[in-house]
Amino acid sequence: MTPSLFTPLSLRETTARNRVMVSPMCQYSTGDGVATDWHQVHLGSRAVGGAGVVMTEATAVEPRGRITPHDLGIWSQEHADALAPITEFIRSQGSVPAIQLAHAGRKASKTRPWDGSEPLQPDEGGWETVAPSAEPYPYDDEPPQQRAMTAEDIDDVTDSFVTAAKRAREAGFEIAEVHAAHGYLLHEFLSPVTNDRDDEYGGSFENRTRLVREITAAVRAVWPDDKPVFVRISATDWLPDRESWDIDQSVRLAPLLAEAGADLVDVSAGGIHPDQEIPNAGPGYQIPYAETIKENTDLAVGAVGGITTGEQADQLIRNERADLAIVGREHLRDPYFALHAAHELGVDVDVPAQYRRGF
Ligand code: FNR
Repeated sequence: MTPSLFTPLSLRETTARNRVMVSPMCQYSTGDGVATDWHQVHLGSRAVGGAGVVMTEATAVEPRGRITPHDLGIWSQEHADALAPITEFIRSQGSVPAIQLAHAGRKASKTRPWDGSEPLQPDEGGWETVAPSAEPYPYDDEPPQQRAMTAEDIDDVTDSFVTAAKRAREAGFEIAEVHAAHGYLLHEFLSPVTNDRDDEYGGSFENRTRLVREITAAVRAVWPDDKPVFVRISATDWLPDRESWDIDQSVRLAPLLAEAGADLVDVSAGGIHPDQEIPNAGPGYQIPYAETIKENTDLAVGAVGGITTGEQADQLIRNERADLAIVGREHLRDPYFALHAAHELGVDVDVPAQYRRGF
């Protein structure tokens, strides 16, 4: 039977009650990476709101991998301990708690969006960034110092992802997502725009995809067999005028991610370079990429970008364009997106007892 938005999604032994996921969205609301009441309320209310999967924002696997000094992190036990009550609450509301494990690479060390997203120098609370190549992100202002990663740095970052995954599991997360999109570290390795290495991590498709495959496999090796691993990719750099990452390479990459142990590819786009041109930023603007990957692979696929109504999300699943509808900004406007979608579609779902009289 063709699934709909409110058909449960089972990956390995983990079942989400519906096909709505809260997209990872940075809140820039910690002091030193430790989750606060903000995260408990923000993530918790979206679980109350009925989403099948509630994913944290990009959660840094090491301090250098934060976008801003305010990002959520999971590089120590203290970080994991602060996340544990949040996963417990999400689960108590019937949602699956998920974490996005991230490293910002050359897009690290800047101010929050509401402070201008400007590069931060070490004497302003910033730090030296690491990336596949030494060339920094082309900011208008002077970027922080950047270093091309050595082989040892690559091993260290891989270890940081593994340790972070182990801590995330102990904190109660059921899905681990490897962030390889939006111009951050792992995307920087994938894209020829940001990777001019001449070792086994640069040059050919095989070499540029090596680190994301290795990290996915390493996370899978420590993630329980009965629980899923996701990978978020940018399907294209949106830079057709130069040698760049594109949908054809994404289609080639997807089965390799499956081989490395991924269960779902979360298909986003862009973020590698400010010259990018988004061809059509309207409703569902990235869905065609998810659909192309779904048509060409056996891997489950999540679609994200411009999904704002229950009907649109339901059509996405019914037409088998994707397996999971990932909703970002609409969840900022409406924490109860999934409950509203069920109401709009005439589907009976469990509403928290406290709220039943409202639905
Ligand atoms: C984002 N996005 C994002 N993506 C990601 O992979 N990790 C992250 O931490 C963030 N952070 C973030 C913060 C905020 C405030 C916004 C609005 C977006 C991108 C987000 O997950 C999503 O892919 C895009 O917003 C497109 O989907 P929507 O918003 O059109 O549903």
